[in-house]
Formats: sequence, structure tokens, C-alpha cells
Amino acid sequence: MATRNYIPPETIEEIRTQNNIVDVISESGVALKQAGRNYQALCPFHEEKTPSFSVSPEKQIFYCFGCQTGGNVIHFLQKHEGKTFIEAIEWLADRANVSLPTRDAKSSARQKLINDLSELNRFAVKYYHELLRTGQHSQHAREYLKNRGVNSQTNQLFQLGYAKQQRRDLVKAATHEGWTVQQLVDAGLIKNEDQGPQDRFWNRILFPIYNAQGGPVGFGGRALSDEHQPKYLNSPTTVLYDKSRILFNLDKARQSISRKQSAILVEGYMDVLMLHQHGIENVIASSGTSLSEEHAALLKRYTPEVVIVFDGDASGLQAAQRGLHRLIGEEIRVRIALMPKGDDPDSYVKQNGADAFSELIDKAINLIEFQIQSAIQEKNIRRPDVKTQVVKDISAILVNIKNRVERTEYVKYAVKELEIEEGLLWRELRDLGLKENTTHRNAPSQKTTSKKLSPREQIEWQLVQVLIQVPELISKVKTLLHYQEITNPRLANVMQLLWDASENEENVDIQHILNTCEDETLKNIISNALIRKKNIPNPHARIEGCLRKLKSFILQEVEQRIRSNALAEGEDDIEKLKELVDLSNQRRAFVQKDLLEQTGNSSQSDEDTDTPQITENIEKEN
Ligand code: UTP
Ligand code: MN
Repeated sequence: MATRNYIPPETIEEIRTQNNIVDVISESGVALKQAGRNYQALCPFHEEKTPSFSVSPEKQIFYCFGCQTGGNVIHFLQKHEGKTFIEAIEWLADRANVSLPTRDAKSSARQKLINDLSELNRFAVKYYHELLRTGQHSQHAREYLKNRGVNSQTNQLFQLGYAKQQRRDLVKAATHEGWTVQQLVDAGLIKNEDQGPQDRFWNRILFPIYNAQGGPVGFGGRALSDEHQPKYLNSPTTVLYDKSRILFNLDKARQSISRKQSAILVEGYMDVLMLHQHGIENVIASSGTSLSEEHAALLKRYTPEVVIVFDGDASGLQAAQRGLHRLIGEEIRVRIALMPKGDDPDSYVKQNGADAFSELIDKAINLIEFQIQSAIQEKNIRRPDVKTQVVKDISAILVNIKNRVERTEYVKYAVKELEIEEGLLWRELRDLGLKENTTHRNAPSQKTTSKKLSPREQIEWQLVQVLIQVPELISKVKTLLHYQEITNPRLANVMQLLWDASENEENVDIQHILNTCEDETLKNIISNALIRKKNIPNPHARIEGCLRKLKSFILQEVEQRIRSNALAEGEDDIEKLKELVDLSNQRRAFVQKDLLEQTGNSSQSDEDTDTPQITENIEKEN
């Protein structure tokens, strides 16, 4: 990642150690309570009733035994605040007064522009909000919001605003405060016209739009009468605001979204406000555009599921137009909730309350089913030419589903509903570029019935735990075991990471590995291992025990292979027999040898005293 390069690893490490993870997590609003040598709290990343979120002051990491999320202070900020790696580093550097190397001149000029425009936006939000709250000529705007049921708390929380009737009101107020016309143009707040600079927004209610971190980046403005068009006017694209990258209300909805593991996508600003006012907080909207790839990727950071609320008369075609297949491309589960005809979420929740709305959300059906159903209902499906077209439309959706099992399920569903031949649909998908053309036959059912670790994998997991806790032993163990001998793929990956690290530094520092690790799962496994024990009483003995057992497994495997080969060939090959005896002896000798050449402590291994806790991260198959 190129952007990572501008901060050297030592600086990252300094910044990490200068920010105590316990303080940072507490400051972010998570109520940590001391429990033994760790701190505990209800996990901010998933919904739970008893605390399984742990923070270790000693190891400076967090780990949730419920949702298996873990990492260091940087990762916490990334996950909790939605910051990028660099943003998290910059924030922590600032918090700890560590100076960062300046970026090159061009990017620092851009940074200055961003900072200036951010501040100008904050000024505008405040200015418009004040006008709405107390302005002499804002009575009708206040009335309007009151009539629409917006209470003062909501008004305050969203910092709603009002832009006056005059076309040069903001120009005057802002330049008076020292902002230049150019800056106002750059922020999209005014336009240079023939008659001079003019405010973009006049006589409108303003909905400030914030980025995921809560910084204001633009506005949506609603007209107060039908004659005033367009009904909604949005900020243009600026350095700060790109409508295909910003989701309205993501800043306030983020935590609720990741806790509920579900986001509700609605159409309008007013829908978001009213749902929030009724206590439904995991709601976002795109500002009058179809969903972009960036939106989908952004959402993926917080949730595996999005429920989209459609008006009652919505069709499958509409779903296609709104770019919802992008969510499927990101492997986000998409469900559709339909409003009764004539309602939108705003009117519905006002009339029927939050529970009724939530019920509609619970009943939401999967997007693919919705598309297939609406295709069938809309058209005279019996006509061959119509059916052909519907099959084409449905294929265009199915081809985006990355998960094979899921895709196969929907293919079967479509085949049944459309009364077509399965082979036909697969051919259609192949024509659209689908590669795996045979998987529909006996697709392996890899449904996540979480598999327990095999006895051998349990040993592997124990070994990895000890190595992570006592990294001094890595270089030694490395000479005795290849990471490819680890059967659990995730653990093998961790092992490879450790082996690679020991190439570069004599004494592997796990925290360094964590700093640079970009793989979620590996990060979680390492955090899991780190947070477990204060001190392993006798790491040498523990490792020896593990190695012995692993080697025994490995040799047994070889033995078995040879034996079955011999059997298959059906002859009493004396050479084979000798080989087998050799192997058996080797295995026995190996089990007795002092592997790490430690004296005195190899006989008593205590690895059985701690049954490894099975973790999802390790169990899950790829
Ligand atoms: P709607 O026309 O459905 O309006 O636009 P609404 O959200 O129900 O608004 P109210 O209740 O009449 O106030 C839905 C969304 O589409 C975008 C806006 O984001 C709006 O909230 N939109 C609509 C525009 O950007 N421009 C427009 O002219 C209209
Ligand atoms: Mn509406």
C-alpha cells in the first residue's frame, strides 16, 4: 500500500506504544471494567448481553471472544471509527504528540485545501443552523419542520439549517469572516455568475452531509414550496464531497450498523431523520444517486447485510437501476423491504410507529427472490420471447454472486419459479463469463456448520499460541518444522508469517507483525493467542510436547501411506517392510529425543492442562 510508505515502521511502533489502548478504547465510549489483569466490556462490534470483549493493558491488544475480532490500538480505531490505517496513525500521532514526517509538497498542499474546506463547511453548518434556530425570517422554515414532525432534538443532532431567501447571504457572511470567494466556490457553497457570486442554496432547509468520521462535507437542500425546483438540491462534487463515496448518516449510524450487523438503506434525508427519531439508528441513504462500488465497499467495512427499503410500487427493474448488484458483488447480503403503496419510511414510521416498521424490515425478502418474483409478476411470462428476456435479466444478477453455494441455490430457485431447464440457465451464465461451469453438479455443501478442530489441529493451535506468546523460540522451532506441515490453513498462514518475520529479525516482535498485518483473520488469531495467558509456565516443555505430537502425526501419516501402497501392490516387498520398521523406530526415537536440547525440563510437559479454546477464525474453512 503506497500510502503506508510515508510513515516508517519505527514511527508506527512509537505511535502505538505512546497510546495506551485502555485509554483510547475508554475515551471512545466503551465502558471498560477491570477483571483480573485484563479489562472487559460489552463488545462494541456485535450485540451481546454478557461482556466478551477483553483488553489487555500488558499486551496492548483487544480481543472479543464473542465475535473473534481483535487487534492493537490502531486496528481498534480503524474498526470503531471507520478510519483508514493512515487516518488512525495520524489521529494517534496527534493524540500522543508524535510528529509525523511531512508528506511531499503536492500532497501537503492538498491536505491544506482539505483542512480549509472542512473548516469552511463547519462554519457554514453553524451559520445555517443558527439561522434556522433563531433567524427572524426563518419562521416559515421552523413551521415547515414542525409540520413534518421533526423535533428539536433531531434538529439539533443533525444540525439542520436554513438558507435565506437572499442570493448573497452566505457570500457576505462568510467573506466577512475572512473566507475568500474562491474558497466558497471550492466548497460548492456559492457559484460565480454573471451578476457576481451567488449562494448555491437559498430559501431551503439544509441537511448537512457528513463523512464517516463526522466531518461536514456538503449539504442537501429541500425547497419549501412545490414551485421551487428542484425539490432537493445537493452540493456539487468538491475536494471533500463525492456523492459516490459518501453515505448520508453513516457517521451516526455506523456503530448501530456494526452492532446489529445490518444496515437499512432508504431513499431520502427525511426518511433517515424520522427513523432515527423513532429509535431506528442503523439507517443510511445515498444522496439521490444509485449505489456505487465505493458505497458497497464502504458498507462492507461495517456490515454483512443491507436491507433496502422500496416504495410499494417498486419493481425489480428499479433495483437494477439503483446499482444494488454492487452490494452482491461485495458479498453483502441484500434484502428488500416493501412499503405499502403511497408510503415512504418517513410517513410510515410516523403513522405506524417503530415496531411496525421493524416488522417490515424483519420480513424483508432476499434481493434475488425479489427480482425473480417481480420479473414474473410484471410480465406475461408465458410468452417465449418474454421468458427469454427474463432469463437474461436474472442471469445478469446471478452472475454477480461470488459464493458458489449461494449462486447454485438461487439458480435452483430461479429454475423452479421460471419453469426452465437448469442447463439453460447455466449456459446463460457461462455466456456472461461465469468460469466455474461444472460446480452446479454436487456443489460441495460447505455450509458453515462450524467444524471442531481435529486432534492434530488442536496441537497446531497450541503450538502457535506458545510461539506468539514466546516469540524468542520461533527461530529454533523453525528449524524443526516447516509451516506447510501445519494442516489447518489459517494456522499455517500465521506460522508462515512468523517464519518470514524471523528471516528479517533475530528476535521476532509480534507487535511489529500486528502493525503491518493487513489480513483480518490472521490479526484476529494473533490477538486471540496474545490475550490468553500471562505467562506460559514452561514454554520449552510445552513446545516440545507439541512438536513431538505433531511429528508423531506426520510420521504416522507417512507410515500409513506406505502401508496402503504396499497393500495395494499386494506383494510382500521386503524393502517396504524394512522401511516401515525404520519409520516406526524413528517415530519412537523422535518422541524420546530432547528436541530443543534443553536439559532437565523436557520430561514434564504441561500442554494438556490447557485445552485450547476452539475459535471460529481457525475453524472456518476458506
Ligand atoms: P423523494 O422525491 O422521494 O423525496 O426523493 P423524499 O425523500 O420523500 O422527500 P420529502 O419527504 O418529499 O421531503 C428521495 C431522495 O432523492 C433525492 C434526495 O436525496 C431525496 O431525499 N432527490 C430527490 C434529489 O437529490 N433531488 C431531487 O430533486 C429529488
Ligand atoms: Mn418523503
